[in-house]
Amino acid sequence: MAAKWSPDSWRGRPIVQVPDYPDPAELAGVEATLAKFPPLVFAGETRRLTQSLGQVAAGKAFLLQGGDCAESFAEFNANNIRDTFRVLLQMAVVLTFGASLPVVKVGRLAGQFAKPRSAATERRDGVELPSYRGDIINGMDFTPDSRRPDPKRLLQAYSQSASTLNLLRAFAQGGYADLHQVHRWNLGYAKSSANERWLGVVHRISEALDFMEACGVTPDQTAELRTVDFYTSHEALLLGYEQAMTRQDSTSPSGEWVDTSAHMLWIGDRTREPDGAHVEFLRGVINPIGLKCGPSLEPAQLLRLIDLLNPANKPGRLTLIARMGADRVAEKLAPLVRAVQREGRAVVWSCDPMHGNTLTSSTGFKTRPFDRILKEVREFFLVHQAEGTHAGGVHLELTGQDVTECLGGAQAIDEAELGDRYHTHCDPRLNASQSLELAFLMAEMLKKERAGVRADIAEAS
Ligand code: PEP
Ligand code: CO
Repeated sequence: MAAKWSPDSWRGRPIVQVPDYPDPAELAGVEATLAKFPPLVFAGETRRLTQSLGQVAAGKAFLLQGGDCAESFAEFNANNIRDTFRVLLQMAVVLTFGASLPVVKVGRLAGQFAKPRSAATERRDGVELPSYRGDIINGMDFTPDSRRPDPKRLLQAYSQSASTLNLLRAFAQGGYADLHQVHRWNLGYAKSSANERWLGVVHRISEALDFMEACGVTPDQTAELRTVDFYTSHEALLLGYEQAMTRQDSTSPSGEWVDTSAHMLWIGDRTREPDGAHVEFLRGVINPIGLKCGPSLEPAQLLRLIDLLNPANKPGRLTLIARMGADRVAEKLAPLVRAVQREGRAVVWSCDPMHGNTLTSSTGFKTRPFDRILKEVREFFLVHQAEGTHAGGVHLELTGQDVTECLGGAQAIDEAELGDRYHTHCDPRLNASQSLELAFLMAEMLKKERAGVRADIAEAS
C-alpha cells in the first residue's frame, strides 16, 4: 500500500534538477499567489484526454504530441503559436487521412518552460554561472543577473501559458480548425515536396467534403468537421509551480486532485527515480501522465514505476515515451515492451525520436539529422510489429517556423546552413516542412501496421 499522498508530499523526497533560489521566502510568496490564480485547464478535460489515450492504448487511435523544446518569453507571439498549431493540425490530417485512424493532438506548449540540464553550472572563459534552466527559472544571457533564479518568472510563465491556451482554444473551437478551411493551412513559404504532397491531400479532402455535403452532411450538423480537440502538455519539472497549480476537483465526490497547469504532464528521463520527488508528485494527480524511457531504464524498474503511477491499470493514464537513440531501439525497447505485455499493463507506447539523436555539427551547432529521427521512428514501429503491440504515438520537438536546426530532410539542410535560422532556446526542432515530411512517412508506417505487413515498414522511408 502506497503512503498517503498530498500535493506537497514530494517535498519529503529526494529531488534532482532543482534551481537554487537565493530567496526561498520570495519563492514561497509567489507560489502562494499562484495557488490563488484560476486553473488553466479543467478536470473534465483531463479525463476526456485520458479516455482518448485509452483508445490509443487499445490500438484504435494515434497520439501526436509536439511543440517547442522550450518555450521562451522573448518569442511569445500569436504567429508562433498559430504556426505550431497549424503544423500539428496538418500532421494530424495527414496521419488521419493516410492511416484512417483518429489522432489525439497534444501540444508541447502553453507551459513547456522548465528544462533539465546535464550540469548545474556553466563555465565560459573562467567564469562559472548557474546553467540556464528555462525561462520559468532564469535567463539565457550569460550574466550573473540573468542566470540568477527569479521567482517572479513563475508568474510570467503562468500568464504566457494562459494567453497561449486562450488562443489555442480559439483556434481549435472558433473556426480556424474547420476542415473546410484546410486549404488555408498551407505553409506560405515552403516549396518542398512535403508541401506538394500536402496540396494533394487538401484537394482530396475538399472533394470528400463536397461529396458529403451533397449527401446532406453539413458542417453545422457535424461538430467533428468544424472543431478539434487540442490538449496541452509539458514536463512537470518545477514542482513548486505544479503544486501551486494543483487543485481538488470540486465535481469529484472523492475529491480527486488535478494539476491544472496542463492537460498532460510527463516525467523526464533524468527525474524518474521511483522514490524521488517527481514520481511522488505525479502519482497523486489524475491527469494523464507521460514517462520518458531512456536506454538506462531496465524492465524491472519500469514495472515498479508503472505500479506507482498507474496502480489501477487504467488505459490512457500512462504513456511510455521511449527515447533510445536510433541504433538502440531494438536492443532496449523490445525488452520493455515484452515485460509490459507479460504483466498485462495497459499503456500507450509513444516514440520520442529527438532526445537520443542529438549531436554537435562540425560548425558547432547542437543538431539532429532527419535520417536518425526517421530511423528511430521506423525501428519503433518494427519493434511493436514484432511484439504484436501498437506503435501508439510520437513525441516531437518541432516548430511551424522555417528554421534550420535539424539536418537533412527533403530540403536537405546541410551543416553550413544550420546557422541561417537557428532560433531554438534549447534543443534543435524539426521545421514545418520536415515535420510534414515525417508525418507522411509515419502515415505509411501506420497504414502498414494496420495491414499487418511487417516487411513493408522497413521500406517506408
Ligand atoms: C525533453 O523532452 O525536453 C527532455 C529533456 O527529454 P528527456 O527527459 O527524454 O531527456
Ligand atoms: Co528537448
